[in-house]
Order: sequence, then structure tokens, then C-alpha cells
Amino acid sequence: MPDYTDTITLNASEHAMDLEYRFGAHNYKPMPVVLERGLGVYLWDVEGKQYFDFLSAYSAVSQGHCHPHIINAMMEQAQKLTLTSRAFYNDRLGECEKYICEYFGYDKVLMMNSGVEAGETALKLTRKWAYKVKGIEPDKAKTVYASGNFWGRTLAAISASTDPSSTSDYGPFLPGYEIIPYDDLNALEAIFRSDPNVAGFMVEPIQGEAGVVVPADGYLRGVRDLCTKYNVLFIADEVQTGIGRTGKRLACDWEGVKPDILVLGKALSGGTMPVSAALANDEIMLTIAPGEHGSTYGGNPLACAVTIAALEVVENENLADHAENMGQLFRNRMLGLQQQCSLIQIVRGKGLLNAIVINDSEESSTARDLCYKMMEKGLLCKPTHGNKIRFAPPLVINEEQMNKACDIIQEVFLEMTGNL
Ligand SMILES: Cc1ncc(COP(=O)(O)O)c(C=O)c1O
Repeated sequence: MPDYTDTITLNASEHAMDLEYRFGAHNYKPMPVVLERGLGVYLWDVEGKQYFDFLSAYSAVSQGHCHPHIINAMMEQAQKLTLTSRAFYNDRLGECEKYICEYFGYDKVLMMNSGVEAGETALKLTRKWAYKVKGIEPDKAKTVYASGNFWGRTLAAISASTDPSSTSDYGPFLPGYEIIPYDDLNALEAIFRSDPNVAGFMVEPIQGEAGVVVPADGYLRGVRDLCTKYNVLFIADEVQTGIGRTGKRLACDWEGVKPDILVLGKALSGGTMPVSAALANDEIMLTIAPGEHGSTYGGNPLACAVTIAALEVVENENLADHAENMGQLFRNRMLGLQQQCSLIQIVRGKGLLNAIVINDSEESSTARDLCYKMMEKGLLCKPTHGNKIRFAPPLVINEEQMNKACDIIQEVFLEMTGNL
């Protein structure tokens, strides 16, 4: 970032970037585009240029930017009541809890704000259940995670991380964690068999941040069966994959399995405000008693109004099936492009959670260069883990928009390889 001085006249984008650089922590390295408006699949920058959004705020804006049904619910509630804390009841929480529980098929839900808080809630529930139900000795409970996992940035979350950029210089980490390879049922069974103190296995049905890593067919079914066999809780982190993103209501639905604890976030509020949730049946959820866990904003009336509206949009607009159809279109176009373009090593994904693995080293700048070129041509996406580009547009994208977006991606890849 250049060190602008007051003597240089900055345009609106440069001004915004300069302010962030000078006054914000440098914990992100955003693409150099300053956005000020969004609608559906489109975003506009401060200079009025229009883009396809192919990141959807890391899959949070599944219902499209500023969906009128969600925004109306939000504005109506914002004028009435926004926060009570859980010191008192509010007239929206119970209604929202009922909606979520019936929608996903669980006895109870515990609402939080960010995805990582819901993940941590799942972990705390697992430990309570370990001591109160499973009968593990105090402070001995263990939870298992898969390498490459990502469930947020708190110390509890990064204690499970195998990514040095998440962990370096943040130790010491939480004890009671075990890491096994992803998509490896033998490793899972080995740890369950050898350690009776294992209480839970937390896993993403598709690893989003790792670069949209899709496990083999049968993996989730195998996880379910092993968890049942060894009396271990199956915790599905569907913060990124849930709520229609992969072409089903939940990614676990692809294999017809039901986790013991379901972790949701992101699209639960359609990209309007932080709302997350952990769902479980009574045997697990009621191990936490009043005063033992919570959050000032968790379950606030504004979040509740928005959440019901956001889930209604997914249902009313049949977004899961639509995501599946649009995802097929996207992958077919990209697989066709792969035939002409040596830069594309792998095309993978489910529904509208997809990635292209670039045929270059993880250290190379190729993926980033491609993203810059797509940005110039009006499509926003971001590399992840060096040589992978994730493509996750809002689920409301229509066929014409998808084809136009694929045209941009195709043009950029072919230009980069000198085929155009
Ligand atoms: C699978 C998964 N779990 C949890 C999180 C954490 O969510 P948040 O950033 O809202 O804390 C993320 C964020 O990307 C995620 O992809």
C-alpha cells in the first residue's frame, strides 16, 4: 500500500483504502476494490463500477445482497425493539427458535452471533455432555478435528488449526484436542477405538477455507456410523456449507445423515448481521444450565426477525435446488474450459460452493493475478491457500447471469494462458 500524503489528491477508492490502512489493524489483505452498494448477485464500487459477487462474503450472502424480504423484516423490527439481552424474554426469540428447530429437525437451538461462537458453543456442549452423560472423568474429555479445518479465529478455534498462518505466535493452545487427516475413516476409527475419552468429532462436510475440499462419497455416512458405534458426538460445522449452499438444505443431507450437533452461521441472517446457532437434542442441549453460557447479543430480537426471513427466502425461492442446478452449469462450463486451458488443474465443489485449483505452486501469485484480472472485468472472487480460487456466488444467481460470469472467467483464464 503506497504511503499517500495529504498533498496527493485521492479518488474515492484510494481515500477509503488509505483510511483503512492508516487506522485499521492490518489483519486482512483485501482485494483493492471499495464497495458501496449491493443488490442480488451484483456489487458496485464507489466509482459506480458493477461486479458479479462470486464470494458472497464467504458464503454468507446466499440470499443475495439486500434481499427485500430480509431487509423489510430487519427495518420493521429495528423500529420496534433490537436488544433486550437474555436477562428478559423478548417476543421474537421463542418464535425464531421454534422456526429453526422445526426447519432443521432438532429439539433445541442456542443462538449466538458469529460462526466461531456457535462452534465454541458446540465444543462446550460436547464437554458438558462428556462429563454429565458419557461419564468421562473431569477435565479429561477430548475432541477430534480434521487437518485443514477452519472454524474461526478465537483461541479455541485455532487450537484445532493446522494452518501456521492462523496459529503462529498465538500459543499456548487449548488442551484436549486431537487432529486426524480429513476424509480418513480408518484414522477416525483408530482414535475412537484407542481413546475412550474422545467425546466429539467436529468436521466440515466440505472444507471451505481449505479450498473447497470435497470428501469421498460415503465419508459423512461413515462418520455418522463410527460416532454412533463409539458413543462420540458428531458435530457438523455447516457454517459455510449449510442453508442451501451445496445444493441441499444441509451438506449432510447429501448422505442422509443427521449430526448430533449442527453448527450454523453466515447465511442464517442472509448477510445482514452476525447470527449463528448450535442445534442439538435435549440430552445434549440441556446439559448447559442457566448462567453457564451465553452472549449479550445472542438471540436478540433483530437477529430473530432477520433469521426467520432469511430462512423463508431459502425455502420460498427453492434456493437449494436452484444452487444445485446453477452449480452443475458452473462446473460444466469450467470443465469445458479445462480442456482448453492448462492453468486449470482441478474443478471441484457441490452446488454453488466450488473451486478451481490452479496448475501452479501454492506460493505462486497466479491465482491472485487471475482474481485481479477478473476484478478488472467485473467479477469478484478471492484466492484461498495460494493456488485455489473459490467461486461462491449468491444462490439467487440466474442462468443468464451465470453464463455471463462464466464468460468473464473463461476470458481471463484464456488470456492468461495466451489462448485468446
Ligand atoms: C466452516 C466455518 N466454520 C466457522 C467459521 C467462522 O465463522 P465466523 O467468521 O462468523 O466466526 C467459518 C468462517 O469462514 C467457516 O467457514
